[in-house]
Amino acid sequence: MQLIIGSFIAVGIILLFILIFGYQRFDKLNEKISALSGHVTSLENKISSTTTELRGNIADSHTALSNELNREKRNVGNIEQSLRQQVGTVSSTVNTLQKLSKTDPELLAKYSKVFFLNENYAPSRLIEIPNEYRYSSTKILKLSEQVWPYLKKMIDDAKKAEVTMYTFSAYRSFSEQRALKGQYTVTYGAGTANAFSADQGYSEHQLGTTLDIIAPGLGGILEGFDKTKAYNWLIANAYRYGFIISYPKNNTFYEFEPWHWRFVGVKLATDLHNQGKNFYDLDQRAIDEYLVNVFD
Ligand code: DAL
Ligand code: ZN
Repeated sequence: MQLIIGSFIAVGIILLFILIFGYQRFDKLNEKISALSGHVTSLENKISSTTTELRGNIADSHTALSNELNREKRNVGNIEQSLRQQVGTVSSTVNTLQKLSKTDPELLAKYSKVFFLNENYAPSRLIEIPNEYRYSSTKILKLSEQVWPYLKKMIDDAKKAEVTMYTFSAYRSFSEQRALKGQYTVTYGAGTANAFSADQGYSEHQLGTTLDIIAPGLGGILEGFDKTKAYNWLIANAYRYGFIISYPKNNTFYEFEPWHWRFVGVKLATDLHNQGKNFYDLDQRAIDEYLVNVFD
């Protein structure tokens, strides 16, 4: 019996030892686990803050790159625009030069005792003015082919406004002008003839762009044209078709010639009309600027 009790006590002591020793081991393990978990938490925090930092860096460099890209795009855009402008300027200069190379430089020159057209000068293409636009059915009148559509429209529009007018004289060659001036000089004397008739080479009629216009009721003479409806209509409207009166009242070259109309292009005629100026008031250099647009 004593042995059994002794054995129980011994087993109890052993169990107690195991319990105490086990608890100490458990406590140490617990400490280790808690230290490890602290470490894990701090590692997790580090990972999270590093990730945030990396994200921030990536976002910053993305913004910087996209800003730079946009700047480059703008630069390329500006360069493209400036190239396009330069190409535009060059091509419009080429167009202008091409147009000018096809435009007769004599068209807008001041004749009338100022410049001289040599005896071989004639417009490149002349057409015959159709009978219904001429005062005389027997006298053939020729005009620059390029000017004819403007004259036709002007006479047609006047007719629609119940204003009748006819062409009385148009292109005159150097030799025709010489013959005409010769007759006038014989009939009226040089002084009088010089007041209303140009010498050969100085007449705008040699250009093929200039006309004398007559109205019904004058008995076939030009004097008195300034009293007609046709004259008043031309003064108000001829510029729209590119025609100007070369010799208005008080001009420095010839007597007043209300019937004598020269084609100078719609742009120049309109500017002269709007500014109340006459063709011969302008400098030749200012007039020449209109040459490129003369048939626009
Ligand atoms: N009657 C104008 C001036 C000319 O002969 O051209
Ligand atoms: Zn004339």
